[in-house]
Amino acid sequence: MNDGSDDIRRVREATDIVRVVGDVVQLKPKGREFVCLCPFHDDRNPSMYVIPGKQIFHCFVCGAGGDALTFAQRYHGLSFPDALKMLADEAGIELTPRRKGESKPQDDQSDEIDRSTLKAVNEAAMGFFRRILTHPEHGKPGRAVVEHRGISPEMVERFAIGASADRWDGLLLYAKQRGIPESHLFAAGLAKQRENGSGSYDALRNRLIFPILGEAGEPIAFGARRIDDEDEPKYLNSPETALFHKSKTLFGLHQARDAIRREGWVAVVEGYTDVIACHQHGIENVVGTLGTALTAEHAKRLRWKCDRAVLLFDGDDAGQRAADRAFEVLFAGELDVSVVVLSDHTDAKDPDELLAREGGRDLLLDALRNGRDLTEVHFERLRAKAVGKGIAGARRLAEDEIRRLLDAGMDRMEPRARSALLGKMAEVTGVRYEILAAAAGAVRRPNTPEEPATGPQPEPMSGPMRVWLELVACVLTGVEAGPVLLEAHGENLAPELTGDDALITTLALEAARNQETDFAELISKLDADSARGRAILFVRRIEEMLGVPADDARRGQAVADHARDCLDRLRSWSDLESGRSEGPGSPEIGISERLEKMKQAHARHGSNPGARFWTS
Ligand code: UTP
Ligand code: MN
Repeated sequence: MNDGSDDIRRVREATDIVRVVGDVVQLKPKGREFVCLCPFHDDRNPSMYVIPGKQIFHCFVCGAGGDALTFAQRYHGLSFPDALKMLADEAGIELTPRRKGESKPQDDQSDEIDRSTLKAVNEAAMGFFRRILTHPEHGKPGRAVVEHRGISPEMVERFAIGASADRWDGLLLYAKQRGIPESHLFAAGLAKQRENGSGSYDALRNRLIFPILGEAGEPIAFGARRIDDEDEPKYLNSPETALFHKSKTLFGLHQARDAIRREGWVAVVEGYTDVIACHQHGIENVVGTLGTALTAEHAKRLRWKCDRAVLLFDGDDAGQRAADRAFEVLFAGELDVSVVVLSDHTDAKDPDELLAREGGRDLLLDALRNGRDLTEVHFERLRAKAVGKGIAGARRLAEDEIRRLLDAGMDRMEPRARSALLGKMAEVTGVRYEILAAAAGAVRRPNTPEEPATGPQPEPMSGPMRVWLELVACVLTGVEAGPVLLEAHGENLAPELTGDDALITTLALEAARNQETDFAELISKLDADSARGRAILFVRRIEEMLGVPADDARRGQAVADHARDCLDRLRSWSDLESGRSEGPGSPEIGISERLEKMKQAHARHGSNPGARFWTS
């Protein structure tokens, strides 16, 4: 019977975790490994490792870890089957079709429509819209707009642009044919129920459709521009769903991600058509917000990929507004943000219009290179506001500012950076530093350390337990240690274990019995994130101790020797406990003798052989 394990194996073999992680976060080589900012916690310094030799990732701070499938699941918010499908598609692998009934059908009545279902509906709708755009009759108006705007066929393809016809039931009929329940269309915001309850209608009628893709390229929402100028509003966007959050989504990120990592910076523009025009003109490190200002969530996602963002605004008003709330973005991580206001450079109303002009591309690139630092712009604006306000007015202004700073997370700033910020604010507003510091609560806690690590803190462990886990780790590191673990297990040397450590031990015993060697596959059997992270930590510690590279021929022997040493240590602990070594009939041994034995054990094995073993 096919249980899918063959599919999983094939996908795993064809997938490189360095590519999967490297697609979405900027990796920096470090020896045989790579480091990056961890996307699973609020990471300021790279604490995630990607280990090609083992095909795994691991974050030392939050403990997230696993193989490529785990990463895809977590980063892209996918179910296991969806993550498998994504990696299979990327590797060009055809999965064994699942028999009917294997995939759980979602009944029409359930109000809780999950992400996979939403994704499937959006996928179907995207296909439908794209086909409409090529339809001889229904696609005509849409094609005229595309042509009039000068959007190239390549961009139609790259951005999966589609259209909807001038009728209220196009998608509804299509969905019906395909057996897609109306409730799914409602949930995705693609159809609506009439107010009076008499049936339903297409939500995005007679529009040019810009699918909004998730980072992995899957449609999570749609932006729909009117074709007929009479229609209002100009753009309709999908509602927020379990799949789509405007404040986290950037239009074009999927198409732009490689260029962003390559260039090391990103431009953020205001409109769909501006993103498309930039890409069409070979400026591919460009994304767009969806009718909102850049949020901290946006900034965080960009920060994973590059160090610098240029916010490009059509007009001064939007630029000023952005500068007003700059701190939300600046606190999101060390992203250098600069601001460019297009109207300072040209009379073209937006990048799209500018790029259509002779020399527009050069002018745009030049403007993007000459942005002004967002913090500077912000303070200049604050200074201008404070002028002529009087002492009380300036103080109110400063206190407002501090409130917003606190909302944006000033608490988490390093003390020195916070002092500098308050100093600058004092200078700009003319309000005394002490007053500002008091308002910020900075006086009360001058030396708040960095946020404490949120990850699993290794609990202090007694000797035998530590040595046992060291042995377990040997087995996960090399199959050569397997027999030693089985020997130790047979002698009942295992201490009382709980939680993750018990899980990992079971896993290692199984690996020892079956002589399994693929670590990534092994740990994927642990379904708790924390357990995976811990197993990876164990193995890394052992590898540090061994100091023999993975491809070295002596490695097997080194692992086996280390395991043997663990076994010896476990045996001597056990002897000490039970007094077994005295043999039958020997008199109770005294305290001093016990101490002497312990000293001997220590002399043999070092006072605390695994001291650094469990701390990250
Ligand atoms: P613009 O009106 O500048 O749109 O709004 P645009 O992209 O330049 O469109 P064209 O060139 O006139 O076709 C900028 C962005 O604001 C959002 C959209 O994301 C749009 O791309 N917007 C605008 C809406 O969400 N709804 C609207 O009604 C208008
Ligand atoms: Mn515009």
